[in-house]
Amino acid sequence: MVKCMCGIIGCLLDNKRAAPVLLNCVKKLEYRGYDSVGIATSSSDIKIKKDSGKIDDVHKNLDLDDLPGDMGIAHVRWATHGLPTKENAHPQTDCKDNIAVVHNGIIENYKELKDQLIGEGHQFKSETDTEVIPHLIEKYVEMGNNLESATRLAIGDIKGSYAIAAICRDEPNKVVGARKESPLIVGKGENEYFIASDAPAILEHTNKVIYLEDHEMVVLSEEGIEIKDIKGNVIKKEIFTIDWTPDMAEKGGYAHFMLKEIHEQPEAVKKTLLGESEIKKMVKKFPDFNRVCFVACGTSFHASLIGKYLFENLVGIPTDVSLASEFEYSADTLDEKTLVIFITQSGETADTLKALRLVNHMAKTLAIVNVLGSTVTREAEYVIYTRAGPEIGVAATKTYVSQLACIYLLAIYMSGKMELMEKLQNIPEYMETALQKEELIKEIAQKYKDSRDFFFIGRGFSFPTAMEGALKLKEITYIHGEGYAAGELKHGPLALIDEGVPVVAVTPPGKSHDKTLSNVEEVKARGAHVIGLGSSEDGVLKYEVHDMIEFEDEIDEMFSSMPYVIPLQLLSYYISVMKSIDPDKPKNLAKCVTVE
Ligand code: AGP
Ligand code: GLU
Repeated sequence: MVKCMCGIIGCLLDNKRAAPVLLNCVKKLEYRGYDSVGIATSSSDIKIKKDSGKIDDVHKNLDLDDLPGDMGIAHVRWATHGLPTKENAHPQTDCKDNIAVVHNGIIENYKELKDQLIGEGHQFKSETDTEVIPHLIEKYVEMGNNLESATRLAIGDIKGSYAIAAICRDEPNKVVGARKESPLIVGKGENEYFIASDAPAILEHTNKVIYLEDHEMVVLSEEGIEIKDIKGNVIKKEIFTIDWTPDMAEKGGYAHFMLKEIHEQPEAVKKTLLGESEIKKMVKKFPDFNRVCFVACGTSFHASLIGKYLFENLVGIPTDVSLASEFEYSADTLDEKTLVIFITQSGETADTLKALRLVNHMAKTLAIVNVLGSTVTREAEYVIYTRAGPEIGVAATKTYVSQLACIYLLAIYMSGKMELMEKLQNIPEYMETALQKEELIKEIAQKYKDSRDFFFIGRGFSFPTAMEGALKLKEITYIHGEGYAAGELKHGPLALIDEGVPVVAVTPPGKSHDKTLSNVEEVKARGAHVIGLGSSEDGVLKYEVHDMIEFEDEIDEMFSSMPYVIPLQLLSYYISVMKSIDPDKPKNLAKCVTVE
């Protein structure tokens, strides 16, 4: 089962009430998907407000920002243990409400710890796995430890994954944080300090961040920030300055982050292409490789599939693609001559990270990542940043095209076919013209929004584009969509094509064009309604299909993946909005999937 973890915040401010700041920061984590929210602050004692529901609704009822004290912690929960109820919302506390903890992750041995603590007289109020943490801290505080060492002892007892923030009534100027397998960063402002699940959450307050590693702890106090290892030794860490601005994480006049991010794609690709010289330098240092292997999940997996076609066509090197969650079952044949490329926008995806850890020391590793300083970037040998800026919508859009742009740069430099650079430089312009089809796509969305199933078909470079179109549809419209290799339809799924079933045919000019066209005929003969994506010069395609999305520019299939995905993203976006779904926060999904 895929479980998603949500977000935590902690802050220590200088003579400023913490609750409004915590509320503002925790709202920035909303995009991750959550079911409950809570805030705790500390002044003379610990005060908590929390409930299940959306932040705005809970705030309307409880005035979440109306709490005293200049330090505190906050949480948005994605329930894994216990229903989304007020009692199960975080912060969770000890028996006497002296200690409050927020937690992302899963405590695997919570049952035995809970039984043991109950046996020792502790009283539990929730069904969460998290609640064992404040009780463990309470136990160690009662044995004479301060909050920091009690937290250290408590995490020594727990098995599983966590990012936590803890406060204690008796130590009113301290926030203690720790992480293992769940992201956690530290923010350093002017006499104010933060911990958070990700950087956009605190960008309004500071852009100076420290990335915690697994088994590291942080103590925020009036003296500043102290990072320590699990034994309590102080460690010196680099402070990164993030060049993302707070308004990059705002909607900027668009109805949804997803729509804004779709529109930002030409700019995102231009920014990625600015990284050309770094890629050039990196490629120069590469040893000779005789094999490339891409590893990724979801949308990043589709970018990897394009990578396979590109590397085999341009670089002429055998290239495999693995789903990260499947990788451990087939990883034996790698060696120093293999370049394993991990693609992940978040840099925190547990499946991808696990595969990376398996490969390190066996083969050369390269990560293509959007989030600066994320865990994957610290563990891979080579790193390329996609430079797409923060992506808030759960469905990946601009990070996908930026990943593609990186892969194209890499393939061009590894193949030495520099004459292709000009084609790549033209892509952002082609993407701009694809964005101008919005009105037409809205009409198509209106026509097919009530369909039960969709098929997306393509061959070669267009096959991963079809798969990405189907994934977007599933994610944000909850309609069943299949991305299929057009030639494979006749081997089974053709049985599902009935009168009126929409089939989106990705048909740019090139080697695969004529064969895909035959598949269009094939589905039409069974009653399908075909939506064609192709060149405006393509009279035959126009004649065959029911709806046509035309590209005026002559984009051949090898370079079609970035512009051609745009109409597919917009189609899903508009169907989602027409069905009154929030495309930024689809049900059951989270932006960053940090468990396997
Ligand atoms: C994309 O729309 C999805 N949210 C999902 O498939 C995503 O691409 C996948 O979880 C991988 O994430 P990553 O790129 O951060 O590793
Ligand atoms: N496992 C915890 C719970 O169910 C934390 C969930 C989360 O990461 O939000 O309360």
